Amino acid sequence: MPFTLPPLPYTPDALAPHMSAETLEYHHGKHHQAYIDKTNQLMTEAGLQGRSLVDVIRSAESDPLRNNAGQLWNHSFFWQCLSPEQTTPPEPLMHLITRDFGSLEALNKKLAEVAVAHFGSGWAWLMLVDGALQVTSLHDGDTPIAHGGMAPLLTIDLWEHAYYIDYRNARPKYVEALLAALINWEFVALNLDGNGIQRANQD
Ligand SMILES: [Fe+2]
Repeated sequence: MPFTLPPLPYTPDALAPHMSAETLEYHHGKHHQAYIDKTNQLMTEAGLQGRSLVDVIRSAESDPLRNNAGQLWNHSFFWQCLSPEQTTPPEPLMHLITRDFGSLEALNKKLAEVAVAHFGSGWAWLMLVDGALQVTSLHDGDTPIAHGGMAPLLTIDLWEHAYYIDYRNARPKYVEALLAALINWEFVALNLDGNGIQRANQD
């Protein structure tokens, strides 16, 4: 079965004014959809229909397929990382944040630094690696799925299409707004079970 566009877990206007309905209509409705269409096309051409999305990312032998399938998965995960409700990290996530970064403010500062410093397109990540929280960024359509031992907890889309409508070229303002108002810390905490990869998978 071809991969399909997962519906947003909120209405397109729910994240305004931090992320507008227009951004979501383009970002989810056009950009995410385009990665799905391209992945389906490349899988058909390669005779890979019937494989799960995670399988395809891990075994892709061509860059176009790996990048498009990675983008498909990354966006499916990203929408779940956002919430119109103001949330805070529940336990035991808060304990890990305090242990590994000192405070939520310090973690957010690190995420913002990494997100703003990332050159070009890509994604900032909070991951669990060997039992410890780790902040890093990956380029273009790269994803933790393609690397061993990385359990994704939270991601921030750093492609310009994520912020250009609302913030023009000001990535720092977009990242600051996202971290201050839109992170779904309940979802981030859920991913401590190591099953985050499956939460954006498709069969
Ligand atoms: Fe994106």
